[in-house]
Amino acid sequence: MSLETPQPHFIQVHQDDQQAVRAELLSGLAQSPARVAPKFLYDALGSRLFDAITELAEYYPTRTEVAIFAQHGRDMARAVAPSSVLIDLGAGSCAKAARLFAPLQPAAYVAVDISVDYLRASLLTLQQRHLGLPMLGLGQDFSSELALPEAAQRWLATQGAADAPRTVFYPGSSIGNFTPPEALTLLRQAHALCAAGGAGGGLLIGVDRVKPKAVLEPAYADALGVTAAFNRNLLLHVNRVLGTDFDPAQWDHVGLFDEAKSRIEMHLQARAAHAVRWPQGERHFAAGERIHTENSYKWTPDAFAALLSEAGFAPATHWTDPQSWFSVFWAPAT
Ligand code: AVI
Repeated sequence: MSLETPQPHFIQVHQDDQQAVRAELLSGLAQSPARVAPKFLYDALGSRLFDAITELAEYYPTRTEVAIFAQHGRDMARAVAPSSVLIDLGAGSCAKAARLFAPLQPAAYVAVDISVDYLRASLLTLQQRHLGLPMLGLGQDFSSELALPEAAQRWLATQGAADAPRTVFYPGSSIGNFTPPEALTLLRQAHALCAAGGAGGGLLIGVDRVKPKAVLEPAYADALGVTAAFNRNLLLHVNRVLGTDFDPAQWDHVGLFDEAKSRIEMHLQARAAHAVRWPQGERHFAAGERIHTENSYKWTPDAFAALLSEAGFAPATHWTDPQSWFSVFWAPAT
């Protein structure tokens, strides 16, 4: 008998294609209005600023979702298949999924994030506390394609979990950062992933709801300016990747709710006319001109239930908070 402590397994699938990343940034900067994809919000500092956002009084989604899990956890555990493979999308610190280990008793835990480097420390610590739970860290860009690579399927087989039901867990309302067509594509892939496992699988997902502007806008333009720093920091990230000379001090943060599109839009707005230069080019910005950096869609429960059904899921259940600000949906695969 081996006395060795079990270790998490790691598989890195995603490799950054620096040329493609630069080309994408250049094409966004050439557009009018200019755009930079929200993934550039999340360098090391950006991720820490996002963590700080989740602690702000104005940013209600994180604490509201935590409260829904605390209040309705038992009902959720009754809905979710026991001994499933828990597949955690955008796992990061793995803290949210770890709270589900006791009620759900998963057969295996698969933490997915863009880089296994983000997962390594959290999984090593978590494994010490859950010695009997097989853990896999998967470095994959699930926003461009969500599917279990063969190496991950082989690993599941070695753990005796190849045919276990699959519970895809996507908390945090990150689905809101996709346009509705992109969200539908991701949900269809999540459905296929669940349907490929044993009976009883499904999707457990956090969704931020439509609500008054007076609540939404301060959540994305807080009094301390943390969201503004998070947004401006994207320019420093772009400077490192492209060699641009963006000066964050030249840009104002804008976070506005567009009711017709049911989304918060984040922009950076030039304080004065100026040029931004990089080794092979430049772009002039007029005073007041904006760079669009993020959308955060807000859903009604009916609209999101319809999206889940279009993606192939069976009728969903959802739980909410006393103010009906946020919902956690359970959508069975069949
Ligand atoms: C990660 N995502 C769900 C956040 C949101 O609320 O859309 C990102 C964020 N942007 C500004 N504040 C938080």
